[in-house]
Amino acid sequence: MPTFHAPRGTRDLLPAERASFDRLSAIAADLSRRYGYAGIETPMFEQTAVFERGVGAVTDIVEKELFRIQPRTDEAESWSLRPEGTAGVVRAYVQHGLRTWPQPVRVQYVGPMFRYDRPQAGRYRQFWQWDVEAIGDAGPGIDAEIVELGHRFYTEAGLSDVRVLLNSIGDPTCRPPYIERLTTYFERHRATLPDLEQARLRTNPLRLLDSKDPDMAALIADAPRIVDHLCDACRAHFDAVCEHLDALAVPVRIEPSLVRGLDYYTRTAFEYYREGAEGQQQALGGGGRYDGLVELLGGRPTPGIGFALGLDRVVLALAEAGAERARPARPAAFVASAEAGDTVERLRIATQLRRAGVSARADLGGRKLGRQLEQASREDAHFAVILGDELREGTVQLRDLRAGTQHPVPLTDLAREILRDEASHRHG
Ligand code: HAM
Repeated sequence: MPTFHAPRGTRDLLPAERASFDRLSAIAADLSRRYGYAGIETPMFEQTAVFERGVGAVTDIVEKELFRIQPRTDEAESWSLRPEGTAGVVRAYVQHGLRTWPQPVRVQYVGPMFRYDRPQAGRYRQFWQWDVEAIGDAGPGIDAEIVELGHRFYTEAGLSDVRVLLNSIGDPTCRPPYIERLTTYFERHRATLPDLEQARLRTNPLRLLDSKDPDMAALIADAPRIVDHLCDACRAHFDAVCEHLDALAVPVRIEPSLVRGLDYYTRTAFEYYREGAEGQQQALGGGGRYDGLVELLGGRPTPGIGFALGLDRVVLALAEAGAERARPARPAAFVASAEAGDTVERLRIATQLRRAGVSARADLGGRKLGRQLEQASREDAHFAVILGDELREGTVQLRDLRAGTQHPVPLTDLAREILRDEASHRHG
């Protein structure tokens, strides 16, 4: 028999790890409710052109990392698995005419993204993002709302040392002359550039600023900075974003070399890092303003801004920070009985409890009572419901596995008593 395994760069989230993701998704859902971002869902694959036009044909994400779906027939459209969420959400905004809704349209979702990346810790071919977008407001207030919301997520997840690196990458007025300036600068040093950077200089010079090659560090530090070449409108916008963020006491560091790897950004660009980890790379999340994207995908000119946080990296960061792991939910009650074979009664009582809202388990495999109780402890159940002869009179024994006490309870009161004790335990 061949042995099968998950594709390289993907992984199975077994229940313990899945619980960490569920916890983060619950934090994202709660923040979305508080901040007013409604849920949205778009397909996991789109026409390839959505990403080519949206993310940019000469970005790493599209050139090297797109999972293209093999067409089944000659005339089939070209589709690709989504490498990120923004292009799909903006496509949906245009397709469904969401510009007629009150603006900005604030939406969010958690879902998997796919990039044909070189797999390593924190870099996967399928990974999960919390993607948040606000479309239809030119800012600067919404920029600060979005940046602060992302930061708030890390704080509530248990990472207290995350800071925001912030930059403005200008707009179609000031960026082209800046890029010319930057190209001239790097052209002067062409001979010393690594091969990859020489190629990038032709296709996407801004990306040189984002190079992780240590040989580039000194050159990048001396390169012209876009923040020094912003047009008046971009400068005013950037100053106003900083002023709003200041008022919210978000820990921000201006990072003039931050350019982001997607082409749709204008003005505000930001990434989240744990303090001290900025150099090693692996942003926990990132985002920015994309004022040209709606138009690029066929809509009227409409501003937008958003971020995506990498949940896989947050789970890793929490483990590194020594945070307690989220655990799969523990049952309130475990139904056990002396009669090993009496799975009918155990299942019947467990089902009654479940219908009444109690999280209950029962051994359905016919183990002996001692083994059933061991299982109850292993699952960290609060109570064991022990069925014996008195069941005929409608009574069971309720054993509090934490307190080590036990007393008889009429079946008619069982669910109510367990729920009451659970509630007082939670609040006590
Ligand atoms: P991005 O910077 O490409 O932005 O990705 C956002 C985050 O996704 C990263 O900071 C990282 O945490 C996570 N991530 C990216 N690639 C991987 C990978 N291969 N493995 C694990 N995690 C990864 C975007 O995707 C934009 N759509 C963000 C955005 C939304 N901008 C505006 N709105």
